[in-house]
Amino acid sequence: MDYLFDTGSELGTHHLDHLGKLLNRPTAWALERVGLRPDLRCLELGAGNGSIANWLAARTREVVAVDIDTSQLNDVAPGVQVIRHDLRDGLPVEGPFDLIHARLLLMHLPEREQLLERIVEALAPGGWLVLGDITDRPLETLAVPEPGDQGLWDKMLHLSHNVVSPARGISWTFARETAGLMTAAGLVDVDVMEYSQTTAGGTDGCLLHLNLNQQAEPLLRAAGATDDELTRYRELMTNPAFRAWFYEFLVTSGRRP
Ligand SMILES: C[S@@+](CC[C@H](N)C(=O)[O-])C[C@H]1O[C@@H](n2cnc3c(N)ncnc32)[C@H](O)[C@@H]1O
Repeated sequence: MDYLFDTGSELGTHHLDHLGKLLNRPTAWALERVGLRPDLRCLELGAGNGSIANWLAARTREVVAVDIDTSQLNDVAPGVQVIRHDLRDGLPVEGPFDLIHARLLLMHLPEREQLLERIVEALAPGGWLVLGDITDRPLETLAVPEPGDQGLWDKMLHLSHNVVSPARGISWTFARETAGLMTAAGLVDVDVMEYSQTTAGGTDGCLLHLNLNQQAEPLLRAAGATDDELTRYRELMTNPAFRAWFYEFLVTSGRRP
């Protein structure tokens, strides 16, 4: 099954930009917690626009950044090696790596459990694996401009999470399963960090919802979203009077003994 979104498109550029603004700070915190040193060799999987690869390159010896679409990785920092590769076929480089990180990648790949095994094998003794993904914890609203907007929000989330995503192999449970899978794969000191925040229309979280809605429009229409619903939903995502919780983001870390 192919990745649902188009990394190389204009919408893909904004998608990655919003992700960085929402999640780079908690990601940096989780990476700092496992301990960064100038002698580390790192692997960044599903690197997107390279924001985390660049951040790691400033703090470690070497970063290999892998993505199926490297068109957003043209301007990476010195010290980042870019490899275009489909991770459904396994890893494109030999380990060992002292740190392997992937954010919002494995939840998208139906082959996630086999890939996790390959990733663990590529860790150096003492090396850390850090995986960040989001969950399907309900995105409660805090304020809706019109009473009917609650039902629309619920419907659009239902179509995205329960109809479109499963058909494309996306897992909303993987983030919660990661700690158990890391432990089963032999990692130790396994630990999960949770991060969440609210978003108002016109801010990064809602703008990301809008962006994903636009990228998935044909699939949402096929799942039953109407013209009027898509139009109103997109208005809401830019209306500051709309406020809701954004996705719960879990970052799970484990160390190879
Ligand atoms: C949701 S984006 C996350 C990007 C980045 N990790 C971030 O959080 O900002 C998923 C990334 O995984 C890449 N990707 C999707 N399927 C892939 C595959 N089979 N092999 C390698 N990369 C893949 C996409 O091109 C995209 O850059």
